[in-house]
Amino acid sequence: MKVAVVGKGGVGKTTIAACLARLLSRDGYSVIAVDADPSLNLAQAIGVPRDVADGAPILFDYEEFIKSRTLRPNGLYLMNPKVDDVVDRFGIKGPDGVRLLKLGAVRKGGTRCLCPEYAFLRALLSHLILGRKDVVILDMVAGLEHMSRGTARGVDLMLCVTEPSVKAIDVAIQMHKLSKDLEVKKFAIVINKVLSEDDVGVVRKALEGVEVAGIIPYDSSVIEADRKGLSLIDYEPESKAIQYINELKKYIEAFIK
Ligand SMILES: Nc1ncnc2c1ncn2[C@@H]1O[C@H](COP(=O)(O)OP(=O)(O)OP(=O)(O)O)[C@@H](O)[C@H]1O
Ligand SMILES: [Mg+2]
Repeated sequence: MKVAVVGKGGVGKTTIAACLARLLSRDGYSVIAVDADPSLNLAQAIGVPRDVADGAPILFDYEEFIKSRTLRPNGLYLMNPKVDDVVDRFGIKGPDGVRLLKLGAVRKGGTRCLCPEYAFLRALLSHLILGRKDVVILDMVAGLEHMSRGTARGVDLMLCVTEPSVKAIDVAIQMHKLSKDLEVKKFAIVINKVLSEDDVGVVRKALEGVEVAGIIPYDSSVIEADRKGLSLIDYEPESKAIQYINELKKYIEAFIK
């Protein structure tokens, strides 16, 4: 099961992806959390100690390694590069058994989906999902560009986080449209930073017909945890936000079954 957490900048993608990873892992799933945002802050949100996170390899920095796996001597791409050792080589062991993979940034960019990094990543993502108890959670970079690069192509569930703001809702509407071209199996929204019933109503109205996977209240403990550099689930396990993220986790579990 591949879950991509997407949405406008700052809506809460990393916080939600990290807490979901921890909660699903506690429920016995084998969880790989993939930090697909070059600013690399998923490790902190998951609760990986700073020194461990900083010392961990960043997959896309290993350009030669990726090329050696994806490119044939004649310059063509291998359709099925070897990827079965990637998590062991590059993954970090996080709390609750979550494994974290830092992707980093693709420097040269290449032409759309054709650069070796993305070919490699696509092979990796399909490889990581072997059994019903395997979950990959992708914390995506803000905005729409990654969608065109195909990182989110073919995911089972795209969770589009939005706040009750016009800009965030507009991004969610665009992502919903794009998700159809990307063969995303299910697109659902998560309404975050909710202060009132009205907030929920505004988002529901603007995104009529789109399923709501979860609603998470505005909660100052999320900000406090951030300021202290801690994972919310360690800092305030009983917080309102965690309670509602736990409901979102149940939605995902129901989806898996
Ligand atoms: N439910 C919430 N209540 C209050 N603050 C929240 C909530 N969720 C997230 N935040 C705050 O919003 C900010 C952005 O959160 P986060 O980093 O998770 O978002 P993001 O979508 O991953 O951002 P980016 O696009 O920069 O990667 C942080 O300061 C975080 O503490
Ligand atoms: Mg983020």
